[in-house]
Amino acid sequence: MRPDAVQRVLDAELAAARERRGGEQPRVLDVGGGSGVWAVPLAAAGCAVTVVEPSPNALATLSTRAREAGVTINAVQGDTDSLGVAAGEADLVLAHGLLEVVDDAPAALASLAAAVAPGGAVSVLVANRFAAILHRAIAGRIVDARRLLDDDAGQLAGTRDPLQRRFDVAGLEKLVLEAGLSVEILQGHGVVSDLVPGVVLDANPGAADALAELELAAATRSPLRDVAARLHVLARRTA
Ligand SMILES: C[S@@+](CC[C@H](N)C(=O)[O-])C[C@H]1O[C@@H](n2cnc3c(N)ncnc32)[C@H](O)[C@@H]1O
Repeated sequence: MRPDAVQRVLDAELAAARERRGGEQPRVLDVGGGSGVWAVPLAAAGCAVTVVEPSPNALATLSTRAREAGVTINAVQGDTDSLGVAAGEADLVLAHGLLEVVDDAPAALASLAAAVAPGGAVSVLVANRFAAILHRAIAGRIVDARRLLDDDAGQLAGTRDPLQRRFDVAGLEKLVLEAGLSVEILQGHGVVSDLVPGVVLDANPGAADALAELELAAATRSPLRDVAARLHVLARRTA
């Protein structure tokens, strides 16, 4: 399967980290790594992966997944308040689907930034508030769409919204800069692919490949990037 926009950036980052380390394994720290959706493939690709995750259930699934994939992952029960790992030792820190669910996003990102080795990076993947509005409107949930638009944090407050907040481009950039990191890449993930029904792809030979190409081409082009389902930042620790 062709790598998507996020995977492409991570592949390049890990290749650069391997080179910096004279061919040694890149050290990846996946905070809020859940059941290992990102961690297990990265371990299979030859990274030394640590997952910090508070949920015992997620850690149990991670352990099963890692065993089935034949990889070893250092799993730590912890959270962004106390990562339980050495500072400044990760070549790449993942915060995928994390900053929407923590109590204090700036404090969480600052804690992740402290875990990065000089020259390393944090990969931040978050839900986009404008995409959430569009998707609800398209699904006919007009009242929810309007409430999301009017809520400062991009949360459906008072409902069972699992997220504490959603982000837009400007808010995400500000958060990253305030954590003392620089924004190296800011792209969209799920720009158009989340909007195309599966039946359209099934009915048109070659459509899936064309869509994947369109997705990559649109990922960095505003305003399409700005309404992608998720926003992705590669944030560099420069000092
Ligand atoms: C939406 S899931 C994302 C899982 C995975 N990163 C992925 O992209 O598939 C969010 C994860 O963050 C974890 N989490 C929640 N609060 C956290 C905190 N304060 N510190 C670290 N992880 C946390 C949850 O237990 C959950 O596994």
